[in-house]
Amino acid sequence: MKSPRITMASLLIFSLLIELQASHHVHMNLETTSSSSSSSPPAYQPYRTGYHFQPLKNWINGPMLYKGIYHLFYQYNPHDVVWGPPVWAHSTSTDLVNWTPQPIAIGPQILANQNGSWSGSATILPGNKPAMLFTGINPQNQQVQDLAFPKDLSDPYLKEWVLIPQNPVMAPTPENHINASSFRDPTTAWRLPDGRWRVLVGNKRGRRGMALMFRSKDFVHWVLAKHPLYSYHGTGMWECPDFYPVYSKGSQAGAETSAVGPFVKHVLKVSLDETKRDIYTIGSYNILRDAYTPDVGFQNDSSLRYDYGKYYASKTFYDGATKRRILLGWVNESSIVADDKIKGWSGIHTIPRKIWLDASGRQLIQWPIAEIESLRRTPVTLPYQVIKGGSLVPVSGITAAQADVEISFKVSDVKNVEKFETSWTNPQLLCSQKGASVKGGLGPFGLLTLASKGLEEYTAVFFRIFKGYDKFVVLMCSDQSRSSLNSTPDKTTYGTFVHVDPIHEGLSLRILIDHSVVESFAAKGKNVITARVYPTLAIGDKAYLYAFNNGTRSVQITRLTAWSMKKANIA
Ligand SMILES: *[C@@H]1O[C@H](CO)[C@@H](O)[C@H](O)[C@H]1NC(C)=O
Ligand SMILES: *[C@@H]1O[C@H](CO)[C@@H](O)[C@H](O)[C@H]1NC(C)=O
Ligand SMILES: *[C@@H]1O[C@H](CO)[C@@H](O)[C@H](O)[C@H]1NC(C)=O
Ligand SMILES: *[C@@H]1O[C@H](CO)[C@@H](O)[C@H](O)[C@H]1NC(C)=O
Ligand SMILES: *[C@@H]1O[C@H](CO)[C@@H](O)[C@H](O)[C@H]1NC(C)=O
Repeated sequence: MKSPRITMASLLIFSLLIELQASHHVHMNLETTSSSSSSSPPAYQPYRTGYHFQPLKNWINGPMLYKGIYHLFYQYNPHDVVWGPPVWAHSTSTDLVNWTPQPIAIGPQILANQNGSWSGSATILPGNKPAMLFTGINPQNQQVQDLAFPKDLSDPYLKEWVLIPQNPVMAPTPENHINASSFRDPTTAWRLPDGRWRVLVGNKRGRRGMALMFRSKDFVHWVLAKHPLYSYHGTGMWECPDFYPVYSKGSQAGAETSAVGPFVKHVLKVSLDETKRDIYTIGSYNILRDAYTPDVGFQNDSSLRYDYGKYYASKTFYDGATKRRILLGWVNESSIVADDKIKGWSGIHTIPRKIWLDASGRQLIQWPIAEIESLRRTPVTLPYQVIKGGSLVPVSGITAAQADVEISFKVSDVKNVEKFETSWTNPQLLCSQKGASVKGGLGPFGLLTLASKGLEEYTAVFFRIFKGYDKFVVLMCSDQSRSSLNSTPDKTTYGTFVHVDPIHEGLSLRILIDHSVVESFAAKGKNVITARVYPTLAIGDKAYLYAFNNGTRSVQITRLTAWSMKKANIA
């Protein structure tokens, strides 16, 4: 992965572009710049990340990729740190860690995208020809779908893109009754053995969210299918749908987007505009009926989510060179707009995650791509030890504001474990009621990240274990309530239940810490929580890391390894 793969024959593309819509437009007039590189943000930047993707300044939200070189296209407001009509900015990489900015890929070009270029996805057509479908905003401010191709296929950097004259290729009409304000974010297209392409576009009717399906023989003329691929009442607008196959036998390998057959299951993910959550279902795609049936349908509070923290508008792509499916997501700021203006930028992307179906078939597993480990410096380890209730274990010798840490716990003292109440159906609420300072039986135990020396500030990521009816219930929390002495950021506590047997399997946590982001992976990638935090004391070399146990019972740390992380080159 570390050598340039520009000359490799097997190319790939990925999709991803996110969007935002009218309800989040907060317009402010600031100074304007014509591109990310034309002016510099302020010099003092305690919250700028060291190895997470972000442009120099201004507001971003989505990503995409192609051709032995990874391409990331993202929506970008060239003029401000808040939402405004976006263009597609573009960066390239050979390792998904270090990025080189490229010229703006798609700006207003034709009427069908004159008022903005929102989210879209790339598809590689036969003959290795990338095609980009995305939502354009026309002068009537209607959402339409546009098609663009690279101007010069021999340019591995795909610097220039051309919108075809037939655009828009999908549009609201009186006949199709599509709401022109709720019609956006085409997926990567897939082709079935009948030779026709399919693509999904997010939509709603009333408050019924849906993924409309269009079919095409030539990728230019698209026909709306009679039925959406899937819809669900009471969920509101679906943004950034994503539909892809995963191998069903616990294989970590990714499947190409058009793969079908008895060996795959399908995943449908949508971004719920009303709650800003990325939820997904796993199910079966019947290619004869062209219909998708989830194993378990969407639910309001208990739907599966990629990330139970601050995370939205994600997309996957299939990396054919390494046979992985990779997930990228957008992490919004939790700070107030006035503070975003001071720092001069807003929004980052998560570390790309490999994603695959768990052997149980009931959930997906996510893990930071292996390439990120190239940034690790010499590890610091802690020996096996018992950590008694009410104690702290410092982890020294690392740059705790820019680090990667893995810890494994063993629990054996399970006497007098608190009973789990069946009314506790909302894990986020439970975590906010039982934060790090609320003593329990088994737990809270975990890590205090971005902690100040006197513990005035810290972001606590921890587990609690309860005795359920026939098994132990494991709760994972990311508690931001003491993350900063500044009272203005959103400090919502996040939580999720982890389906793991803590006695026999143990409990592990990996956390990527990067100044203002804490990305936590529990149980080898079963559950993920991402949080944005803005400490005022725990900054730079004044940030510390601790393992802690605030329960009454002891737990054992079987292994702790922590690495300082090098800075990635992200211009
Ligand atoms: C949309 O385009 C029209 C015509 O170019 C322009 O007058 C209007 O300000 C634009 N609206 C937005 C929301 O950008
Ligand atoms: C169309 O979508 C917009 C944006 O969500 C909404 O305000 C409007 O009520 C919808 N129109 C209809 C007819 O449902
Ligand atoms: C989900 O929420 C919608 C709207 O709030 C409601 O109509 C529906 O009954 C809820 N479904 C479940 C399963 O709770
Ligand atoms: C961004 O974060 C703010 C503050 O937490 C929140 O109010 C808003 O809903 C978020 N927007 C998205 C798109 O996640
Ligand atoms: C542990 O609990 C005590 C008592 O509730 C509290 O004062 C302390 O802040 C907690 N420690 C952490 C790390 O939250």
